Amino acid sequence: MSIMSFPERGPWGDAKWRGNCSGHVYKQLFGQLLRDIADPVFIDPMMGSGTSIEVAREMNIRAYGLDLHQGFNILRDSILEKTGEPGNLVLSHPPYHSMIAYSGEQWGTEAHQDDLSRCADDEDFHRKMQLALLNQREATIPGGYYGCIIGDWRRNGVYTSYQAEIIARMPATELAGVLIKAQHNAQSSFKSYGKMKLPFITHEYILLFSRKRATVLAVLGAIASQAQARLQGTWRNVVRSVLMQLGGKAPLSAIYEKVSTSTDKIESNSTWREKVRQTLQIYPDFCPVEKGVWALA
Ligand SMILES: C[S@@+](CC[C@H](N)C(=O)[O-])C[C@H]1O[C@@H](n2cnc3c(N)ncnc32)[C@H](O)[C@@H]1O
Repeated sequence: MSIMSFPERGPWGDAKWRGNCSGHVYKQLFGQLLRDIADPVFIDPMMGSGTSIEVAREMNIRAYGLDLHQGFNILRDSILEKTGEPGNLVLSHPPYHSMIAYSGEQWGTEAHQDDLSRCADDEDFHRKMQLALLNQREATIPGGYYGCIIGDWRRNGVYTSYQAEIIARMPATELAGVLIKAQHNAQSSFKSYGKMKLPFITHEYILLFSRKRATVLAVLGAIASQAQARLQGTWRNVVRSVLMQLGGKAPLSAIYEKVSTSTDKIESNSTWREKVRQTLQIYPDFCPVEKGVWALA
């Protein structure tokens, strides 16, 4: 089943730890992912109140629980070095950006600068989550799984999909599963949003990646070419959509004008005209019909 729903959290961990996860979720994941492995190892590098670790130990799974509240910092310390052995499953449950603050609120008296619930903005959070997952990947046995439990967030009318941002930043060839988990009793669900038409977010995701034997450099190459392909594809689509709006055929000057009025961001990039020309030249979507005039092929 790729959809999970556990209204009860069970006896594991601490129900008062804000943003804790139902132990039944871990129980099901361990049953599915670790059942055929002799003496499996589980690692949770952001264990919070320890729900996952308690479930694992009850199932006779060797487990390592780490967290910033006990001095382990996923943005500075190697998980593998800390545990001394890789895991068959390395699953984290990070803060959902600043939805719930941990350091200085749930634990400790001061905000910790590397607390993932204290990131400056979304971009800072996305970047740090990528680093956290690369750290988790390094601590995963080849063929094993790493990943995270994460929710999305809508604030000030903007929906940020943390799960989508993470998937975009990790090697596509390692993505192994995306599960949906119903979120029960989330505090944000009960806040008043006035006359908001969009539904409250009552689900989270479990993202699972399967570690291949590839080196970090190969992973970096894969992620870079994914990003590059996306950018190239976007140029191709922007130019194609502009040509469609211009009736399927237009002089270069009209294409330039339409591109610059239809996309604000492009204005700041002084080489955009060159990029438009290059896009028209390299893709089979476009063909020159006469001097300086392009059409959809
Ligand atoms: C959502 S809670 C985990 C809850 C846990 N699954 C439970 O059921 O209790 C997120 C945890 O991430 C930890 N954390 C935040 N930044 C971290 C960092 N840089 N390194 C390690 N842990 C971090 C927080 O201290 C917090 O305990």
